[in-house]
Amino acid sequence: MSEFTNPNLEVSISAEEIQKRIAELGADIARDYAGKNPLMIGVLKGACTFLSDLMRAADIQLGVEFMAISSYGAEMRTSGEVRILKDLDVAIEGRHILVVEDIVDTGLTLSYLLANLKSRGAASVKLAALLDKHERREKDVPIDYLGFKIPDKFVVGYGLDFAERYRNLPYIAVVKDPNMT
Ligand code: IMP
Repeated sequence: MSEFTNPNLEVSISAEEIQKRIAELGADIARDYAGKNPLMIGVLKGACTFLSDLMRAADIQLGVEFMAISSYGAEMRTSGEVRILKDLDVAIEGRHILVVEDIVDTGLTLSYLLANLKSRGAASVKLAALLDKHERREKDVPIDYLGFKIPDKFVVGYGLDFAERYRNLPYIAVVKDPNMT
């Protein structure tokens, strides 16, 4: 059965809308970071799709790195701590950092990560996020380059998963019935 036309999915942001917005964000980033050789840091795995499109929309010299951090759970909610599963391969002292994330939900993950990167002596640390589920925010996280604000619904596609599924959808969708496979 086709995954892309799965009837259990309700498209909320089409592939065309995503690409149009990314072209605008890429132009903003190219303008703001011209001559600064920024380092884009993608947060695995969800941001891989957004990062790969966003970097191609930004026509400037830039570098790319990845980090993997543990997703939120009951433990993190109380401690505010995030576990780094894969760290950067390079030092970032003096570099202009642009963290690229799929979605900001409670903000707990990003507030930890941004503070962690700042503490390593980066010249600047900014955030690009495709989606902002602002209603659920617990920690304030400034999003410098935002794709779309979305309501408090669980979304999949374009890198975002539900139990490791649906990352390959070219659009953002809401799963109508999570119990249906
Ligand atoms: P935060 O720390 O609550 O902001 O969590 C952000 C992370 O939670 C994202 O990077 C996603 O991995 C995950 N997440 C939050 N909301 C969704 C969603 O609607 N669909 C898929 N993953 C989500």
